[in-house]
Amino acid sequence: MFSFVLACGAVTFGIYVTLCFTVLKMPKCKSTKNLRGKTVIVTGANTGIGKATALDLAKRGARVILACRDQQRAEAAANDIKRESGNDEVVYLHLDLASLQSVRSFAENFLKTESRLDILINNAGLMMAGKTEDGIGMIFGVNHLGHFLLTLLLLDRLKDCAPSRVVNVASLAHQYGHVDFNCLNTHKEVGVGTSSFALFSVYSNSKLCNVLFTRELAKRLQGTNVTCYSLHPGAIKTEIGRHTSLLWRMFSAPIIMLFFTDAVSGAQTTLHCALQDGIEHLSGSYFSKCAVQETSAKAKDDAVAKKLWEVSERMCGLA
Ligand SMILES: NC(=O)c1ccc[n+]([C@@H]2O[C@H](COP(=O)([O-])OP(=O)(O)OC[C@H]3O[C@@H](n4cnc5c(N)ncnc54)[C@H](OP(=O)(O)O)[C@@H]3O)[C@@H](O)[C@H]2O)c1
Ligand SMILES: *[C@@H]1O[C@H](CO)[C@@H](O)[C@H](O)[C@H]1NC(C)=O
Repeated sequence: MFSFVLACGAVTFGIYVTLCFTVLKMPKCKSTKNLRGKTVIVTGANTGIGKATALDLAKRGARVILACRDQQRAEAAANDIKRESGNDEVVYLHLDLASLQSVRSFAENFLKTESRLDILINNAGLMMAGKTEDGIGMIFGVNHLGHFLLTLLLLDRLKDCAPSRVVNVASLAHQYGHVDFNCLNTHKEVGVGTSSFALFSVYSNSKLCNVLFTRELAKRLQGTNVTCYSLHPGAIKTEIGRHTSLLWRMFSAPIIMLFFTDAVSGAQTTLHCALQDGIEHLSGSYFSKCAVQETSAKAKDDAVAKKLWEVSERMCGLA
């Protein structure tokens, strides 16, 4: 009996180690591009994947704008990044994606005080019940709509600085998503319910919106030398689960401990999409593990992408 348990243990361990070096292994962004003289915005850059992304870009010499909602957390992150990169051009600018007014103020402020925009990284995200300042569902409002408006308000500057890029951090979870326009119409959210499972489902739907937005944006940007990409960062240990229930966190803790990797690994595909030369012809595509990926039919539905764009324009008062 004991040797049986031991054998099972050894096999399990062997499988786990194999997984670590195959499926779970995260490739590194290979670009050695220097960003001196370039300006980059990273939303949600005070922690997690966004912070790791901002640090890498700062090390490359970019002027990095940390677009964050919490002044204290953002200034602490700015100091960490300055110290670790030796780059002093790391600036916090207030942005609360759960307020369309804040998005507008941020854009106005940015356009007035900064002269360039070379890379916009829409990274912030959450999985949390509630409504935004505008009465829009929190998950759709922050993960999609706030970033949608932000991108549109900054588009002319990106065009002026072309070749330039927009990078939208989506998720593998988009594959389980769907866009329910009736629900958007009645609840201003892409799903209902507040259980952890319901929130994950709404989150997946919002991540599908990220992928579809990227696709439609690429179409509209043809001929401008502004390109855009969506991506899955990997399964990464961050604060993303902080608003989920205790039960959900207890259930996910061992999975996260064994199978999730660090934020530096989580930043690699974002960096690939932001920096890698020669991917411009893939504008609008979805990436994972520093490579373009095939995705589900739902994520390539151009009619839904177009409708989502039009609904989004109306919801943030652009049309
Ligand atoms: N971790 C994963 O395994 C995983 C997998 C797939 C996709 N992703 C995606 O990766 C991105 C980064 O997530 P993460 O894992 O690094 O999570 P995280 O550690 O929770 O970081 C999320 C960031 O978004 C910011 N944010 C949230 N609401 C905001 C708002 N209203 N306005 C401005 N900023 C706001 C947070 O700011 P505060 O600190 O002030 O709250 C924080 O800086 C998200 O888009 C997420 O969906 C993550
Ligand atoms: C886009 O880039 C190409 C190659 O550098 C250049 O020839 C073209 O004029 C650019 N187009 C625009 C609209 O900037």
